[in-house]
Amino acid sequence: MKLSDNKAKLSFSNGSPEVDLPVYQGTIGPDVIDIRKLYAQTGQFTYDPGFMSTASCQSAITYIDGDKGELLYRGYPIEQLAEKCDYLDTCYLLLKGELPDATQRKDFHKLVLDHTMVNEQMQFFLRGFRRDAHPMAVLTGLVGAMSAFYHDSIDVHNAEHRDIAAIRLISKMPTLVAMAHKYGVGQPYMYPRNELSYAGNFLRMMFGTPCEDYKVNPVLERAMDRIFILHADHEQNASTSTVRLCGSSGTNPFAAIAAGVACLWGPAHGGANEAALNMLEDIQKMGGIAKLGEFVERVKDKNSGVRLMGFGHRVYKNYDPRAKLMQETCNEVLTELGLENDPLFALAKALEKIALEDDYFVSRKLYPNVDFYSGIVQRAIGVPVKLFTGIFALARTVGWIAQLNEMMGDPEYKIGRPRQLYVGAARRDVP
Ligand code: CMC
Repeated sequence: MKLSDNKAKLSFSNGSPEVDLPVYQGTIGPDVIDIRKLYAQTGQFTYDPGFMSTASCQSAITYIDGDKGELLYRGYPIEQLAEKCDYLDTCYLLLKGELPDATQRKDFHKLVLDHTMVNEQMQFFLRGFRRDAHPMAVLTGLVGAMSAFYHDSIDVHNAEHRDIAAIRLISKMPTLVAMAHKYGVGQPYMYPRNELSYAGNFLRMMFGTPCEDYKVNPVLERAMDRIFILHADHEQNASTSTVRLCGSSGTNPFAAIAAGVACLWGPAHGGANEAALNMLEDIQKMGGIAKLGEFVERVKDKNSGVRLMGFGHRVYKNYDPRAKLMQETCNEVLTELGLENDPLFALAKALEKIALEDDYFVSRKLYPNVDFYSGIVQRAIGVPVKLFTGIFALARTVGWIAQLNEMMGDPEYKIGRPRQLYVGAARRDVP
């Protein structure tokens, strides 16, 4: 980051001396006011629950312009990556900063695809869960358990360990997600096939059985790959910040990523794809398109506690660029599967249209986010609703590990330790 000529001045109405605060510039995006010495200089903290105005780190990985609706991975627009690259190219880019050349691409694909198998003991660990456990509960456990299985890559201060852990996580997440699924439906686990693509292998582990050959459908393979690309990273969102904070204590990478999985589960974050699909199904049961007006009125009523899931974003105050790409993929998948007249897709498009014309949503700049259409695509492919967030976790793993490794490699890195405004009882004695 570069020191700006501009300086911020903080003054107080009680006569305390003014404080000069340095301002830093990034490559693009808002400048930041450096308040690191504020407490030492004034004895006061800043107050920003929810991080509405706080940059928690510097990062060179992902950039979002929420007003324009722009998303860049290492400077490349998401639309171009979705069009011209595959998920493993995107992983390489996020981890290493540049797109791979032909040799690097071949080597990286081989490296990831050669490490897809998980330790055989993992399946015995998995068996301890109830069959009806939510896949995110299972995945939080399985990812955390990786630190018990891969002892030789758990020193987060060792750059080589971090690289090995990154590859292990990216390679094995599809296997773990598919195992969680197979366990839930009572089918045998499918071992990975390394000659398939990353997405193709995942589809086979999810939907294949040992009883017959599984032929990967290229349209569904491309759609799954695109879902992975679109979810690969999203700068300092809740789960990524969780991974950074958790990792900042020096814990091992698998434990930090497990914390990210747990955070992602929430319906305000990754769980929104599941919640959005459940919402559409509920509206369908209520009477479908004819009932949309009534549903939107409930959303607008603050006392109802109902939100339009898959709408709104802390950063995007414009159309989420991922939602546009997801809608395109949705069309492709539904056409391929002969589901062009899918009632939920029609319902989602009608709901989007109503919301985009309604003053409640317009005035609050609430637009569809990535989760609005991703559930419809996944459902059409055959992914059970309960597993949607698990697939998000699979895809986001590269972002989490890239961000964690960036933090650990930053000489300015410190354990994350926010402070508070204490409003509890003052010191008192037990009677
Ligand atoms: N439906 C109805 N009203 C909404 C919605 C929504 N989905 N989202 C925001 N609002 C209203 C909210 O009530 C508030 O209104 P008012 O100013 O009158 O009080 C205003 O818009 C601002 O909302 P906020 O909750 O202060 O905004 P936030 O930045 O804290 O929340 C959000 C962002 C994503 C949590 C929120 O928009 C939301 O709950 N959306 C639905 C869940 C969802 O789709 N999440 C996926 C996010 S994208 C994928 C990911 O990152 O994981």
